[in-house]
Amino acid sequence: MFQSDLLRSKRILITGGGTGLGKAAAGRFLELGAEVYICGRREEVLAATEQELRARTGGPIHWRRCDVRDAAAVEEMMGGIWADGALDVLVNNAAGNFLARTEDLSLGAFQSVIGIVLMGSLHTTLACGRRWLAAGRGGNVLSVTTTYTTTGSAYVVPSAVAKAGVQALMRSLAVEWGNRGIRMNAIAPGPIRTEGAFSRLLPRPELEQAAKERNPLGRFGTVEEFANLAAFLVSDGSGYINGEVVTMDGGEWLQGAGEFTAFGRQLSEKEWEMMKPKKRN
Ligand code: HXC
Ligand code: NAP
Repeated sequence: MFQSDLLRSKRILITGGGTGLGKAAAGRFLELGAEVYICGRREEVLAATEQELRARTGGPIHWRRCDVRDAAAVEEMMGGIWADGALDVLVNNAAGNFLARTEDLSLGAFQSVIGIVLMGSLHTTLACGRRWLAAGRGGNVLSVTTTYTTTGSAYVVPSAVAKAGVQALMRSLAVEWGNRGIRMNAIAPGPIRTEGAFSRLLPRPELEQAAKERNPLGRFGTVEEFANLAAFLVSDGSGYINGEVVTMDGGEWLQGAGEFTAFGRQLSEKEWEMMKPKKRN
């Protein structure tokens, strides 16, 4: 769907790029000519992904161990990467999440998720942004949020709070830094099968089925669909898109929001027929 050199010479960091959606994006960016850095906390996961994607694409990929909650560690990672050359693109993809009743959560549980999602994205975005501004060059940040940033969601409150903050960060800086050539956007995906998300958020198989059935398209998204959208948004072809949140959820959240959607689906064929206007003689 893209020219094979769409991302040629782009240097891209994907946080949490060792697994799931971040890994899929890393593979796609490499296929399209980018040089890719991935980071995360687990060295063995990062090293295995680096090996697999290099073998598959032949592209330049590097990994760094970094906990994005730690501002000093992020600074050190960025310094190391910049020593080899400036990044062009940052993808804030690392996240933490779990299902829990909010009243049961410890302060540490909130701090963990908000630390990874909101503070992590803040640390990386500032580290890149300050370097781009100081050098008088442009840059591009893409954050992965969720569809519940505006609605909130029961049972994932630390994530909802943190992702809403990330969205506000993107939109605020899109305006503040836009005049200096720095773009900020987000993707809000609906459910896409990854081990990290589904093991924590859909603990029973019948919940997976229910999640599919409430989607207008009747299926989950795919990591390939996510990777293609990410490739477009980090490419120069999307250069006038700034401060945008692109939802890719098959229409799921709109289905949840529609006043008559659930109600209408419960009506029988006979009831629909009865509601049609009566023919006049
Ligand atoms: C309640 C929990 C908990 C749970 C951990 N905690 N799991 N509380 N219910 N299930 C609490 C702990 O008691 C602790 O609090 C604090 O959270 C930190 O836990 P640790 O295990 O020490 O943290 P850590 O090892 O850093 O792990 C972070 C994590 C973990 C977020 C808890 O799940 C993780 O590593 N996740 C990374 C990957 C991930 O979550 N991917 C899914 C993304 S999907 P105390 O007070 O005891 O210190 C997504 C969107 C999906 O985001 C949308 C789908 C449509
Ligand atoms: P995932 O595989 O669990 O990805 C999360 C990644 O973040 C992991 O590689 C993890 O690696 C890394 N990470 C976690 N804490 C970190 C930290 N403190 N520092 C650095 N890296 C850290 O889940 P995923 O489904 O691919 O999720 C990717 C993104 O998509 C997330 O932002 C998620 O919120 C979003 N999303 C996913 C879905 C979905 O259905 N899959 C839907 C909506 C939004 P380590 O554990 O090794 O650190």
